Amino acid sequence: MSTVHGKETTGSESAKEGKAVPWPLLKGWLEQEEQKVRRRKGIDPNDAARHRLPEHGTPWNGVRSQLEALRKEDTAESHGRLTVYSLKGSREVQEVCEQAHRMFFSQNALFTPYLPSVARMEHEVLEMALELLHSPSDGAANITSGGSESLYCAVHAAREWAKVHRPQATAPEIIAPYSVHAALEKGCDLMGVRLVRVRLGTDYRGDVGAMRKAVTKNTIALVGSAPCWPYGLYDDIPALGHLASSEGLWFHVDGCLGGYLAPFAEAVGHPVPPWDFRVPGVTSISADLHKYGYAAKPCSSILWRNGDLREFHYQLIVDWPAGPYLSPGLTGSRPAGSVASAWAVMNFLGQDGYERLARRQLAVGRRLKEGIESLGVYSVWPSELAVFAFGSEELDVQHVVAGMSARGWFMMGNPEPPLVHLTLDAVPDEVVEAFLSDLAAVTEDVRAGRIGERGKLTYT
Ligand SMILES: Cc1ncc(COP(=O)(O)O)c(C=O)c1O
Repeated sequence: MSTVHGKETTGSESAKEGKAVPWPLLKGWLEQEEQKVRRRKGIDPNDAARHRLPEHGTPWNGVRSQLEALRKEDTAESHGRLTVYSLKGSREVQEVCEQAHRMFFSQNALFTPYLPSVARMEHEVLEMALELLHSPSDGAANITSGGSESLYCAVHAAREWAKVHRPQATAPEIIAPYSVHAALEKGCDLMGVRLVRVRLGTDYRGDVGAMRKAVTKNTIALVGSAPCWPYGLYDDIPALGHLASSEGLWFHVDGCLGGYLAPFAEAVGHPVPPWDFRVPGVTSISADLHKYGYAAKPCSSILWRNGDLREFHYQLIVDWPAGPYLSPGLTGSRPAGSVASAWAVMNFLGQDGYERLARRQLAVGRRLKEGIESLGVYSVWPSELAVFAFGSEELDVQHVVAGMSARGWFMMGNPEPPLVHLTLDAVPDEVVEAFLSDLAAVTEDVRAGRIGERGKLTYT
Protein backbone atom coordinates (compact mmCIF):
# COMPACT_ATOMS: atom_id res chain seq x y z
CA MET A 1 0.00 0.00 0.00
CA SER A 2 2.65 2.50 -0.94
CA THR A 3 0.99 4.63 -3.56
CA VAL A 4 -1.17 7.59 -2.68
CA HIS A 5 -4.54 7.21 -4.31
CA GLY A 6 -7.11 9.84 -4.90
CA LYS A 7 -6.86 13.43 -5.91
CA GLU A 8 -3.39 14.86 -5.54
CA THR A 9 -4.66 18.35 -4.96
CA THR A 10 -6.64 19.85 -2.15
CA GLY A 11 -9.14 22.64 -2.42
CA SER A 12 -10.95 23.95 -5.40
CA GLU A 13 -9.13 22.10 -8.21
CA SER A 14 -10.42 18.74 -7.03
CA ALA A 15 -13.84 19.84 -5.95
CA LYS A 16 -15.98 18.98 -8.96
CA GLU A 17 -13.93 16.37 -10.78
CA GLY A 18 -16.27 13.59 -9.76
CA LYS A 19 -19.04 15.21 -11.82
CA ALA A 20 -17.17 15.01 -15.09
CA VAL A 21 -18.86 11.89 -16.50
CA PRO A 22 -19.69 12.68 -20.13
CA TRP A 23 -23.37 12.24 -20.95
CA PRO A 24 -22.78 9.84 -23.92
CA LEU A 25 -20.95 7.48 -21.55
CA LEU A 26 -23.80 7.57 -19.05
CA LYS A 27 -26.41 7.18 -21.79
CA GLY A 28 -24.52 4.17 -23.19
CA TRP A 29 -24.38 2.62 -19.75
CA LEU A 30 -28.12 3.08 -19.14
CA GLU A 31 -28.91 1.61 -22.56
CA GLN A 32 -26.71 -1.39 -21.88
CA GLU A 33 -28.56 -2.06 -18.62
CA GLU A 34 -31.90 -1.93 -20.45
CA GLN A 35 -30.61 -4.25 -23.14
CA LYS A 36 -29.46 -6.72 -20.51
CA VAL A 37 -33.01 -6.95 -19.18
CA ARG A 38 -34.39 -7.52 -22.70
CA ARG A 39 -31.77 -10.16 -23.46
CA ARG A 40 -32.67 -12.02 -20.24
CA LYS A 41 -36.31 -11.94 -21.28
CA GLY A 42 -35.25 -13.62 -24.50
CA ILE A 43 -36.27 -10.72 -26.73
CA ASP A 44 -34.25 -8.67 -29.18
CA PRO A 45 -32.25 -6.21 -27.04
CA ASN A 46 -33.08 -3.42 -29.50
CA ASP A 47 -36.80 -4.13 -29.48
CA ALA A 48 -38.20 -0.84 -28.23
CA ALA A 49 -41.75 -2.16 -27.60
CA ARG A 50 -42.88 -1.42 -24.07
CA HIS A 51 -43.92 -4.06 -21.60
CA ARG A 52 -47.65 -3.42 -21.16
CA LEU A 53 -50.10 -3.84 -18.33
CA PRO A 54 -51.83 -7.21 -18.97
CA GLU A 55 -55.37 -6.84 -20.27
CA HIS A 56 -56.67 -9.35 -17.73
CA GLY A 57 -55.46 -10.13 -14.25
CA THR A 58 -53.75 -13.40 -13.28
CA PRO A 59 -54.73 -15.33 -10.12
CA TRP A 60 -52.23 -15.02 -7.26
CA ASN A 61 -50.93 -18.58 -7.70
CA GLY A 62 -49.91 -17.75 -11.23
CA VAL A 63 -48.33 -14.45 -10.23
CA ARG A 64 -46.47 -16.16 -7.42
CA SER A 65 -45.04 -18.80 -9.78
CA GLN A 66 -43.84 -16.00 -12.03
CA LEU A 67 -42.17 -14.28 -9.07
CA GLU A 68 -40.52 -17.55 -8.06
CA ALA A 69 -39.22 -18.04 -11.57
CA LEU A 70 -37.88 -14.48 -11.65
CA ARG A 71 -36.13 -15.00 -8.33
CA LYS A 72 -34.25 -18.00 -9.72
CA GLU A 73 -32.31 -15.56 -11.94
CA ASP A 74 -30.76 -13.93 -8.87
CA THR A 75 -27.50 -15.11 -7.32
CA ALA A 76 -28.35 -18.11 -5.17
CA GLU A 77 -28.88 -17.03 -1.60
CA SER A 78 -26.56 -19.55 -0.01
CA HIS A 79 -23.79 -18.22 -2.21
CA GLY A 80 -24.76 -14.58 -2.34
CA ARG A 81 -24.73 -14.43 1.41
CA LEU A 82 -20.97 -14.10 1.53
CA THR A 83 -21.06 -11.06 -0.53
CA VAL A 84 -22.30 -7.75 -0.19
CA TYR A 85 -25.45 -6.52 -1.40
CA SER A 86 -27.72 -7.72 1.36
CA LEU A 87 -26.68 -8.47 4.92
CA LYS A 88 -28.81 -11.09 6.56
CA GLY A 89 -27.30 -12.09 9.92
CA SER A 90 -28.94 -15.50 10.04
CA ARG A 91 -32.04 -17.29 8.81
CA GLU A 92 -33.83 -16.70 12.14
CA VAL A 93 -33.07 -12.99 11.97
CA GLN A 94 -34.43 -12.88 8.44
CA GLU A 95 -37.57 -14.66 9.55
CA VAL A 96 -38.19 -12.14 12.36
CA CYS A 97 -37.47 -9.25 10.03
CA GLU A 98 -39.88 -10.55 7.42
CA GLN A 99 -42.71 -11.33 9.84
CA ALA A 100 -42.47 -7.95 11.57
CA HIS A 101 -42.32 -6.15 8.24
CA ARG A 102 -45.39 -8.00 7.03
CA MET A 103 -47.38 -6.97 10.13
CA PHE A 104 -46.88 -3.29 9.28
CA PHE A 105 -46.27 -3.45 5.55
CA SER A 106 -49.25 -1.34 4.55
CA GLN A 107 -48.72 1.40 7.13
CA ASN A 108 -47.17 4.75 6.34
CA ALA A 109 -44.74 5.94 9.01
CA LEU A 110 -45.24 9.52 7.82
CA PHE A 111 -48.44 9.40 9.84
CA THR A 112 -47.05 8.41 13.24
CA PRO A 113 -49.48 10.85 14.95
CA TYR A 114 -52.23 8.38 13.95
CA LEU A 115 -50.11 5.27 14.51
CA PRO A 116 -48.97 5.23 18.15
CA SER A 117 -47.51 1.74 17.70
CA VAL A 118 -45.16 2.92 14.95
CA ALA A 119 -44.33 6.14 16.83
CA ARG A 120 -43.38 4.09 19.87
CA MET A 121 -41.27 1.59 17.92
CA GLU A 122 -39.47 4.42 16.14
CA HIS A 123 -38.83 6.17 19.45
CA GLU A 124 -37.46 3.00 21.03
CA VAL A 125 -35.24 2.11 18.06
CA LEU A 126 -33.72 5.58 18.14
CA GLU A 127 -33.23 5.55 21.92
CA MET A 128 -31.41 2.22 21.60
CA ALA A 129 -29.33 3.68 18.76
CA LEU A 130 -28.37 6.76 20.80
CA GLU A 131 -27.33 4.55 23.69
CA LEU A 132 -25.28 2.20 21.48
CA LEU A 133 -23.41 5.08 19.86
CA HIS A 134 -22.70 6.73 23.25
CA SER A 135 -24.72 9.84 22.62
CA PRO A 136 -24.84 12.45 25.39
CA SER A 137 -28.14 12.53 27.29
CA ASP A 138 -29.51 15.38 25.13
CA GLY A 139 -28.72 13.59 21.85
CA ALA A 140 -31.44 13.24 19.22
CA ALA A 141 -31.98 11.01 16.18
CA ASN A 142 -34.19 10.29 13.16
CA ILE A 143 -34.89 7.28 11.00
CA THR A 144 -34.24 7.70 7.28
CA SER A 145 -34.57 5.54 4.21
CA GLY A 146 -30.89 4.58 3.98
CA GLY A 147 -27.29 5.66 4.19
CA SER A 148 -27.60 8.04 1.27
CA GLU A 149 -30.55 9.87 2.79
CA SER A 150 -28.77 10.06 6.15
CA LEU A 151 -25.82 11.71 4.41
CA TYR A 152 -28.12 14.13 2.58
CA CYS A 153 -29.69 15.04 5.93
CA ALA A 154 -26.26 15.71 7.44
CA VAL A 155 -25.30 17.98 4.54
CA HIS A 156 -28.60 19.81 4.76
CA ALA A 157 -28.39 20.36 8.54
CA ALA A 158 -24.75 21.46 8.32
CA ARG A 159 -25.67 23.96 5.60
CA GLU A 160 -28.53 25.40 7.66
CA TRP A 161 -26.34 25.48 10.81
CA ALA A 162 -23.61 27.31 8.89
CA LYS A 163 -26.04 30.08 7.92
CA VAL A 164 -26.11 30.94 11.62
CA HIS A 165 -22.67 29.84 12.82
CA ARG A 166 -20.44 30.33 9.75
CA PRO A 167 -22.03 33.34 8.00
CA GLN A 168 -18.71 34.07 6.28
CA ALA A 169 -19.19 30.84 4.26
CA THR A 170 -21.06 32.41 1.36
CA ALA A 171 -20.21 29.53 -1.03
CA PRO A 172 -20.36 26.57 1.38
CA GLU A 173 -17.86 23.72 1.09
CA ILE A 174 -17.50 20.39 2.86
CA ILE A 175 -14.12 18.69 3.11
CA ALA A 176 -13.86 14.89 3.05
CA PRO A 177 -11.28 12.24 2.14
CA TYR A 178 -11.32 10.90 -1.42
CA SER A 179 -12.61 7.55 -0.11
CA VAL A 180 -15.85 8.99 1.30
CA HIS A 181 -19.02 7.38 -0.10
CA ALA A 182 -20.27 8.70 -3.46
CA ALA A 183 -23.66 9.54 -1.89
CA LEU A 184 -22.02 12.43 -0.04
CA GLU A 185 -21.07 13.96 -3.37
CA LYS A 186 -24.63 13.54 -4.60
CA GLY A 187 -26.01 15.11 -1.40
CA CYS A 188 -23.66 18.07 -1.67
CA ASP A 189 -24.65 18.56 -5.26
CA LEU A 190 -28.35 18.48 -4.37
CA MET A 191 -27.86 20.94 -1.50
CA GLY A 192 -25.73 23.42 -3.48
CA VAL A 193 -22.67 22.66 -1.37
CA ARG A 194 -19.29 22.03 -2.94
CA LEU A 195 -17.57 18.83 -1.89
CA VAL A 196 -13.79 19.11 -1.65
CA ARG A 197 -12.41 15.59 -1.79
CA VAL A 198 -8.89 15.51 -0.43
CA ARG A 199 -6.25 12.94 -1.38
CA LEU A 200 -5.63 10.01 0.91
CA GLY A 201 -2.50 9.42 2.94
CA THR A 202 -0.12 6.55 2.17
CA ASP A 203 -2.20 4.40 4.52
CA TYR A 204 -5.32 5.04 2.40
CA ARG A 205 -7.02 6.99 5.19
CA GLY A 206 -8.01 10.63 5.02
CA ASP A 207 -4.90 12.82 5.24
CA VAL A 208 -5.74 15.10 8.16
CA GLY A 209 -2.89 17.52 7.37
CA ALA A 210 -4.13 17.90 3.80
CA MET A 211 -7.69 18.37 5.06
CA ARG A 212 -6.49 21.09 7.43
CA LYS A 213 -4.82 22.89 4.53
CA ALA A 214 -8.06 22.69 2.52
CA VAL A 215 -10.05 24.65 5.14
CA THR A 216 -11.11 28.08 3.87
CA LYS A 217 -13.61 30.70 5.02
CA ASN A 218 -16.20 28.81 2.97
CA THR A 219 -15.70 25.51 4.78
CA ILE A 220 -18.74 24.54 6.83
CA ALA A 221 -18.07 20.91 7.70
CA LEU A 222 -15.71 17.95 7.69
CA VAL A 223 -16.76 14.37 7.00
CA GLY A 224 -14.87 11.20 7.93
CA SER A 225 -15.79 7.53 7.42
CA ALA A 226 -16.02 4.85 10.08
CA PRO A 227 -15.18 2.78 8.10
CA CYS A 228 -15.13 3.84 4.43
CA TRP A 229 -16.76 1.61 1.83
CA PRO A 230 -13.85 1.12 -0.62
CA TYR A 231 -11.25 -0.19 1.86
CA GLY A 232 -13.07 -0.74 5.15
CA LEU A 233 -10.59 1.59 6.87
CA TYR A 234 -11.41 4.13 9.58
CA ASP A 235 -10.39 7.74 9.04
CA ASP A 236 -8.68 9.31 12.05
CA ILE A 237 -11.91 10.44 13.69
CA PRO A 238 -10.27 11.88 16.87
CA ALA A 239 -7.87 14.03 14.79
CA LEU A 240 -10.71 15.20 12.54
CA GLY A 241 -12.88 15.95 15.60
CA HIS A 242 -10.05 18.06 16.98
CA LEU A 243 -9.63 19.87 13.66
CA ALA A 244 -13.37 20.52 13.43
CA SER A 245 -13.52 21.88 17.00
CA SER A 246 -10.51 24.12 16.55
CA GLU A 247 -11.87 25.55 13.27
CA GLY A 248 -15.47 25.81 14.52
CA LEU A 249 -16.84 23.35 11.93
CA TRP A 250 -19.63 20.77 11.86
CA PHE A 251 -18.17 17.24 11.81
CA HIS A 252 -20.17 14.36 10.38
CA VAL A 253 -19.03 10.75 10.82
CA ASP A 254 -20.30 8.36 8.15
CA GLY A 255 -20.83 5.17 10.12
CA CYS A 256 -23.46 3.89 7.66
CA LEU A 257 -21.64 0.66 7.01
CA GLY A 258 -20.27 -0.33 10.41
CA GLY A 259 -22.43 1.72 12.78
CA TYR A 260 -24.46 -1.22 14.10
CA LEU A 261 -21.57 -3.68 14.06
CA ALA A 262 -18.92 -1.61 15.83
CA PRO A 263 -20.57 -1.50 19.28
CA PHE A 264 -20.84 -5.29 19.36
CA ALA A 265 -17.43 -5.96 17.81
CA GLU A 266 -15.96 -3.69 20.48
CA ALA A 267 -17.90 -5.51 23.21
CA VAL A 268 -16.40 -8.85 22.15
CA GLY A 269 -12.88 -7.45 22.22
CA HIS A 270 -12.26 -6.39 18.60
CA PRO A 271 -10.05 -3.27 18.45
CA VAL A 272 -12.49 -0.80 16.87
CA PRO A 273 -10.89 2.62 16.33
CA PRO A 274 -12.62 5.50 18.21
CA TRP A 275 -15.43 6.83 16.05
CA ASP A 276 -18.69 7.59 17.90
CA PHE A 277 -19.98 10.35 20.20
CA ARG A 278 -17.26 9.54 22.74
CA VAL A 279 -14.94 11.40 20.35
CA PRO A 280 -15.03 15.15 21.09
CA GLY A 281 -16.02 17.26 18.11
CA VAL A 282 -18.35 14.70 16.46
CA THR A 283 -21.55 16.57 15.57
CA SER A 284 -23.60 13.95 13.72
CA ILE A 285 -23.38 10.27 12.78
CA SER A 286 -25.11 8.26 10.07
CA ALA A 287 -25.58 4.53 10.78
CA ASP A 288 -27.61 2.09 8.69
CA LEU A 289 -30.09 -0.15 10.43
CA HIS A 290 -30.54 -2.05 7.16
CA LYS A 291 -26.90 -3.11 7.13
CA TYR A 292 -25.55 -4.60 10.38
CA GLY A 293 -28.73 -3.69 12.28
CA TYR A 294 -30.27 -6.38 9.99
CA ALA A 295 -33.53 -4.43 9.54
CA ALA A 296 -35.51 -4.61 6.31
CA LYS A 297 -34.53 -2.09 3.68
CA PRO A 298 -34.88 0.86 3.56
CA CYS A 299 -33.83 1.87 7.06
CA SER A 300 -31.01 4.03 8.38
CA SER A 301 -30.53 6.49 11.21
CA ILE A 302 -29.04 9.92 11.60
CA LEU A 303 -27.94 10.89 15.09
CA TRP A 304 -27.29 14.44 16.33
CA ARG A 305 -25.06 15.29 19.29
CA ASN A 306 -27.93 17.30 20.78
CA GLY A 307 -31.48 18.34 20.10
CA ASP A 308 -30.54 21.94 19.25
CA LEU A 309 -28.41 20.70 16.35
CA ARG A 310 -31.31 18.60 15.10
CA GLU A 311 -33.42 21.73 14.72
CA PHE A 312 -31.31 22.59 11.67
CA HIS A 313 -32.49 19.32 10.11
CA TYR A 314 -36.22 20.03 10.18
CA GLN A 315 -38.22 21.99 7.66
CA LEU A 316 -41.71 22.96 8.75
CA ILE A 317 -43.80 23.86 5.72
CA VAL A 318 -46.92 25.91 6.46
CA ASP A 319 -47.53 27.83 3.26
CA TRP A 320 -49.95 25.50 1.46
CA PRO A 321 -53.63 24.62 1.86
CA ALA A 322 -53.32 21.46 3.97
CA GLY A 323 -51.80 22.88 7.14
CA PRO A 324 -48.36 22.35 8.74
CA TYR A 325 -46.26 19.67 7.05
CA LEU A 326 -43.34 18.13 8.87
CA SER A 327 -41.57 14.96 7.77
CA PRO A 328 -38.70 13.55 9.81
CA GLY A 329 -36.32 13.11 6.87
CA LEU A 330 -36.04 14.06 3.22
CA THR A 331 -38.78 11.68 2.15
CA GLY A 332 -42.51 12.00 2.78
CA SER A 333 -44.28 8.64 2.97
CA ARG A 334 -42.14 6.06 4.73
CA PRO A 335 -42.44 2.28 5.17
CA ALA A 336 -43.58 1.46 8.71
CA GLY A 337 -42.58 -2.15 7.93
CA SER A 338 -38.90 -1.15 8.04
CA VAL A 339 -39.32 0.53 11.42
CA ALA A 340 -41.16 -2.52 12.77
CA SER A 341 -38.47 -4.85 11.42
CA ALA A 342 -35.68 -2.81 13.04
CA TRP A 343 -37.55 -2.82 16.36
CA ALA A 344 -38.29 -6.54 16.12
CA VAL A 345 -34.74 -7.58 15.22
CA MET A 346 -33.25 -5.38 17.96
CA ASN A 347 -35.54 -6.99 20.52
CA PHE A 348 -35.09 -10.48 19.10
CA LEU A 349 -31.30 -10.29 19.18
CA GLY A 350 -30.61 -8.03 22.14
CA GLN A 351 -27.03 -7.21 23.15
CA ASP A 352 -25.99 -10.86 23.39
CA GLY A 353 -27.53 -11.81 20.03
CA TYR A 354 -25.74 -8.98 18.19
CA GLU A 355 -22.51 -9.94 19.99
CA ARG A 356 -22.94 -13.53 18.84
CA LEU A 357 -23.32 -12.40 15.23
CA ALA A 358 -20.36 -10.00 15.55
CA ARG A 359 -18.17 -12.81 16.90
CA ARG A 360 -19.18 -15.05 14.02
CA GLN A 361 -18.65 -12.33 11.43
CA LEU A 362 -15.16 -11.62 12.78
CA ALA A 363 -14.37 -15.36 12.68
CA VAL A 364 -15.52 -15.47 9.03
CA GLY A 365 -13.08 -12.63 8.27
CA ARG A 366 -10.20 -14.45 9.98
CA ARG A 367 -10.87 -17.73 8.14
CA LEU A 368 -11.15 -15.94 4.79
CA LYS A 369 -7.87 -14.12 5.38
CA GLU A 370 -6.09 -17.35 6.25
CA GLY A 371 -7.65 -19.28 3.35
CA ILE A 372 -7.03 -16.56 0.75
CA GLU A 373 -3.46 -15.86 1.86
CA SER A 374 -2.69 -19.59 1.71
CA LEU A 375 -3.28 -19.47 -2.07
CA GLY A 376 -0.04 -17.49 -2.25
CA VAL A 377 -1.07 -14.92 -4.87
CA TYR A 378 -3.31 -12.50 -3.04
CA SER A 379 -2.67 -9.72 -0.57
CA VAL A 380 -5.48 -9.26 1.92
CA TRP A 381 -6.07 -5.73 3.14
CA PRO A 382 -6.34 -5.02 6.85
CA SER A 383 -10.00 -5.60 7.66
CA GLU A 384 -10.86 -3.14 10.43
CA LEU A 385 -14.55 -3.91 10.29
CA ALA A 386 -17.15 -5.21 7.86
CA VAL A 387 -15.20 -4.95 4.61
CA PHE A 388 -12.88 -7.63 3.35
CA ALA A 389 -10.72 -6.62 0.37
CA PHE A 390 -7.98 -8.40 -1.48
CA GLY A 391 -5.84 -7.75 -4.54
CA SER A 392 -3.01 -9.42 -6.39
CA GLU A 393 0.29 -8.33 -7.89
CA GLU A 394 0.44 -11.49 -9.95
CA LEU A 395 -3.09 -12.04 -11.28
CA ASP A 396 -5.65 -9.78 -12.88
CA VAL A 397 -8.40 -9.87 -10.27
CA GLN A 398 -10.99 -9.04 -12.94
CA HIS A 399 -10.48 -12.55 -14.33
CA VAL A 400 -10.96 -13.87 -10.79
CA VAL A 401 -14.24 -11.95 -10.47
CA ALA A 402 -15.42 -13.38 -13.82
CA GLY A 403 -14.49 -16.92 -12.80
CA MET A 404 -16.18 -16.64 -9.42
CA SER A 405 -19.29 -15.14 -10.91
CA ALA A 406 -19.55 -18.09 -13.33
CA ARG A 407 -19.65 -20.26 -10.19
CA GLY A 408 -22.48 -18.19 -8.71
CA TRP A 409 -20.48 -15.83 -6.48
CA PHE A 410 -21.34 -12.21 -6.94
CA MET A 411 -18.38 -10.03 -6.06
CA MET A 412 -17.93 -6.28 -6.02
CA GLY A 413 -14.66 -4.46 -6.31
CA ASN A 414 -12.68 -1.24 -6.47
CA PRO A 415 -10.78 -0.15 -9.53
CA GLU A 416 -8.51 2.15 -7.48
CA PRO A 417 -6.46 0.05 -6.84
CA PRO A 418 -7.88 -3.19 -8.34
CA LEU A 419 -9.40 -5.04 -5.39
CA VAL A 420 -12.10 -7.59 -4.80
CA HIS A 421 -14.47 -6.27 -2.16
CA LEU A 422 -16.66 -8.40 0.09
CA THR A 423 -18.87 -7.29 2.94
CA LEU A 424 -18.70 -9.88 5.68
CA ASP A 425 -21.80 -11.50 7.08
CA ALA A 426 -22.13 -14.09 9.83
CA VAL A 427 -22.41 -16.96 7.33
CA PRO A 428 -21.96 -20.62 8.29
CA ASP A 429 -18.69 -22.53 7.80
CA GLU A 430 -19.93 -24.41 4.75
CA VAL A 431 -20.47 -21.13 2.86
CA VAL A 432 -16.96 -19.90 3.71
CA GLU A 433 -15.37 -23.23 2.77
CA ALA A 434 -17.32 -23.43 -0.49
CA PHE A 435 -16.17 -19.91 -1.35
CA LEU A 436 -12.53 -20.74 -0.58
CA SER A 437 -12.61 -23.95 -2.55
CA ASP A 438 -14.13 -22.19 -5.59
CA LEU A 439 -11.60 -19.38 -5.26
CA ALA A 440 -8.75 -21.92 -5.25
CA ALA A 441 -10.12 -23.54 -8.43
CA VAL A 442 -10.69 -20.18 -10.14
CA THR A 443 -7.20 -19.01 -9.18
CA GLU A 444 -5.74 -22.08 -10.90
CA ASP A 445 -7.88 -21.37 -13.98
CA VAL A 446 -6.71 -17.76 -14.11
CA ARG A 447 -3.07 -18.80 -13.69
CA ALA A 448 -3.46 -21.27 -16.54
CA GLY A 449 -5.08 -18.60 -18.75
CA ARG A 450 -8.37 -20.49 -18.92
CA ILE A 451 -10.54 -17.46 -18.04
CA GLY A 452 -10.71 -14.91 -20.83
CA GLU A 453 -13.53 -12.72 -19.51
CA ARG A 454 -12.94 -9.85 -17.12
CA GLY A 455 -15.52 -9.16 -14.42
CA LYS A 456 -16.42 -5.70 -13.18
CA LEU A 457 -14.74 -4.09 -10.19
CA THR A 458 -17.38 -1.49 -9.52
CA TYR A 459 -20.12 -0.57 -7.11
CA THR A 460 -23.08 -0.41 -9.49
C1 LIG B 1 -19.90 4.09 4.23
C2 LIG B 1 -21.21 4.16 3.48
N1 LIG B 1 -21.91 5.31 3.44
C3 LIG B 1 -23.08 5.42 2.78
C4 LIG B 1 -23.61 4.35 2.09
C5 LIG B 1 -24.92 4.49 1.32
O1 LIG B 1 -25.90 3.70 1.88
P1 LIG B 1 -27.26 3.32 1.12
O2 LIG B 1 -26.87 2.44 -0.03
O3 LIG B 1 -28.04 2.62 2.18
O4 LIG B 1 -27.91 4.56 0.67
C6 LIG B 1 -22.91 3.13 2.10
C7 LIG B 1 -23.41 1.97 1.38
O5 LIG B 1 -22.80 0.94 1.26
C8 LIG B 1 -21.68 3.03 2.81
O6 LIG B 1 -20.96 1.89 2.84
